Amino acid sequence: MATYLNMTINLILSLLLFLISTKSSADHLTDTFTECLKNQSDPTFPVTGIIYTPANSSFSSTFHAYIRNPVFDNSTRTKPSLIITPLHVSHIQAAVICARKHGLQMRVRSGGHDYEGLSYLSYSPSPFFILDMFNLRSVDVNIEQETVWVQIGATLGEVYYRIAEKSNVHGLPGGVCPTVAVGGHCSGGGYGNMVRKFGLTVDLIFDALLVDVNGALLDRASMGEELFWAITGGGGASFGVILAFGFELARVPPKVTVFNVKRTSEENITNIAYKWFQVAHKLDNELFIRMSFDVVNNTEGMKNIRASFPSLFLGNSTRLLSLMDNSFPELGLNESDCVEMSWIESTLVYAEFPVGTPVEALLSRVQQPERDRPFKIKSDFLKEPISRKGLKSIFKKMKELENQMVTFSPLSGRMEEISEFAKPFPHRAGNIAMIEYETYWNQTGTKAANKYREFSRMMQEHMTPYVSKNPREAFFNYRDLDNGVNHHGMNSYEEGMVYGLRYFKEVNYNRLVMVKTMVDPDNFFKDEQSIPPLQSSYEVI
Ligand SMILES: Cc1cc2nc3c(=O)[nH]c(=O)nc-3n(C[C@H](O)[C@H](O)[C@H](O)COP(=O)(O)OP(=O)(O)OC[C@H]3O[C@@H](n4cnc5c(N)ncnc54)[C@H](O)[C@@H]3O)c2cc1C
Ligand SMILES: *[C@@H]1O[C@H](CO)[C@@H](O)[C@H](O)[C@H]1NC(C)=O
Ligand SMILES: *[C@@H]1O[C@H](CO)[C@@H](O)[C@H](O)[C@H]1NC(C)=O
Ligand SMILES: *[C@@H]1O[C@H](CO)[C@@H](O)[C@H](O)[C@H]1NC(C)=O
Ligand SMILES: *[C@@H]1O[C@H](CO)[C@@H](O)[C@H](O)[C@H]1NC(C)=O
Ligand SMILES: *[C@@H]1O[C@H](CO)[C@@H](O)[C@H](O)[C@H]1NC(C)=O
Ligand SMILES: *[C@@H]1O[C@H](CO)[C@@H](O)[C@H](O)[C@H]1NC(C)=O
Ligand SMILES: *[C@@H]1O[C@H](CO)[C@@H](O)[C@H](O)[C@H]1NC(C)=O
Ligand SMILES: *[C@@H]1O[C@H](CO)[C@@H](O)[C@H](O)[C@H]1NC(C)=O
Repeated sequence: MATYLNMTINLILSLLLFLISTKSSADHLTDTFTECLKNQSDPTFPVTGIIYTPANSSFSSTFHAYIRNPVFDNSTRTKPSLIITPLHVSHIQAAVICARKHGLQMRVRSGGHDYEGLSYLSYSPSPFFILDMFNLRSVDVNIEQETVWVQIGATLGEVYYRIAEKSNVHGLPGGVCPTVAVGGHCSGGGYGNMVRKFGLTVDLIFDALLVDVNGALLDRASMGEELFWAITGGGGASFGVILAFGFELARVPPKVTVFNVKRTSEENITNIAYKWFQVAHKLDNELFIRMSFDVVNNTEGMKNIRASFPSLFLGNSTRLLSLMDNSFPELGLNESDCVEMSWIESTLVYAEFPVGTPVEALLSRVQQPERDRPFKIKSDFLKEPISRKGLKSIFKKMKELENQMVTFSPLSGRMEEISEFAKPFPHRAGNIAMIEYETYWNQTGTKAANKYREFSRMMQEHMTPYVSKNPREAFFNYRDLDNGVNHHGMNSYEEGMVYGLRYFKEVNYNRLVMVKTMVDPDNFFKDEQSIPPLQSSYEVI
């Protein structure tokens, strides 16, 4: 008994000592790191004013400013010991060099929309800092060359706005949420409503600027084609700090047509959805029809399936209506459903701003209120149409669970013409749609979060018979730790394979591992779902 007590006391004492020593060594680490930053940085661009420690009064507001999922506001994961907000490339270079020199870990955040908060929280107990890129946001449009150079802290809304300021017949295919930043979005794929006409955002990248693990600033020519390939879909977080991307502009017509019809009769929805699976991927490339199911209360207070079809047509409504009459009459689209507008106005409508909102709303960095709630996202890929029986069973499950939204977004068109090896994103020909599971909830706290995340898992589990298998594919930009995690970025090839095959499939995963081994063999750039180097020579924490 006494021995047992002694052992317990010893254990507690050593634990306390451990805690005290790690605490003070963390402080020491951040102090020497900060000193190194000051030593290292270019005197023309001093680092004063860009270093936030928890002692700074604005540390907390800076940390929270770019948390785009409130579920992570009160997370128990490791929070940053420092936040660095670079104003100049030399600050990024100094941060990388000093972090490696002093063994401090790093996360890079551009817009903070990561669905798992990987850009600002860590599962590892090791201290880390955030390199917060929101100040680096220039957008240089060149209409003569039909290109745009964008710094990664710019939001999609800012990019779309700046393009439209110069031309009403140019645009960029990309995501529909205007506050998403270029940094994460365009290094991780970039899916949007012009995908059937132009492909993903990464398909239009022609050049990039990146700070590598040695602090060198590289462009496409100096980084080489393999690294350039990796950061155009394989994510930035494994390979370096991306500073900017150059994109070719897409040519859009001066007027596009949008509609978003909704249907609530379950019998009709089943018929329409059944037809959607047959035709949505075979329609003209100019036409993008998304299909989204959620559950609403009907007038009797009973749960009812609702289907929404938010859509974009790169042409006029006359042509759209004749196309729909020929290929998809089941939807019952009529003239009064269709609104013609400029492409830039369509980006606002698609982001669910009320009709008539000035386009300047795209410049706002404030999250729309209905988005600013806790949520969980998952993804799947659909290769075969779902039967009527299957649809009924999906609707039944959605009604059993709470707050489920299941969205089918078409791939196909231009996506079928691009090889699955052209970029790390492999889900090209042979896919009817990408499926997104969205679960939003209004309650705060861990209990609600656990409940709704579990509902989201159950919903996805229910979809197993209908979706891709071996591997069950997932979209890298829809980060989901249920796809597998590694040990605080200290991952092995096998561990990385669990999520790597889902996001990239085998050939692309192996190629990403080769690039990683070449450019960052000691695994400095890492997170819970990063690409591992081969023959890891680094220490486990
Ligand atoms: C409301 C909402 C709507 C969305 N809509 C779409 C959509 O329509 N289509 C779509 O494809 N996706 C969509 N997404 C997903 C989005 O594309 C990803 O979450 C994307 O990674 C966000 O980029 P970010 O820079 O805002 O996020 P961050 O959290 O800052 O970064 C995401 C990841 O990229 C890394 N990273 C960021 N910047 C850099 C950099 N400069 N260098 C290296 N690595 C970097 C981070 O470390 C992290 O791993 C949406 C997300 C949200 C929250
Ligand atoms: C910073 O520079 C000073 C003077 O050159 C040097 O004494 C010190 O060790 C340096 N600190 C770090 C953390 O590199
Ligand atoms: C944080 O506080 C320190 C000490 O008061 C100050 O020197 C520094 O400029 C502050 N940093 C920022 C980003 O405000
Ligand atoms: C269902 O579709 C049919 C045929 O298009 C239509 O006549 C009917 O009004 C629809 N029912 C509901 C409830 O919308
Ligand atoms: C739908 O009805 C249920 C119970 O009848 C209620 O709890 C729920 O809040 C309602 N949902 C909405 C969105 O009104
Ligand atoms: C609609 O577009 C087609 C070509 O796509 C064109 O022939 C037709 O004149 C246009 N109609 C109107 C009303 O603008
Ligand atoms: C067009 O369809 C909508 C429903 O989507 C309906 O409310 C409207 O009455 C229809 N208009 C015409 C002219 O048929
Ligand atoms: C949850 O909040 C959203 C957005 O504020 C609101 O539209 C919705 O009705 C709320 N749901 C419930 C069940 O209260
Ligand atoms: C986080 O904690 C604060 C303070 O306790 C609370 O007001 C807030 O609602 C919490 N947020 C979430 C999303 O749980």
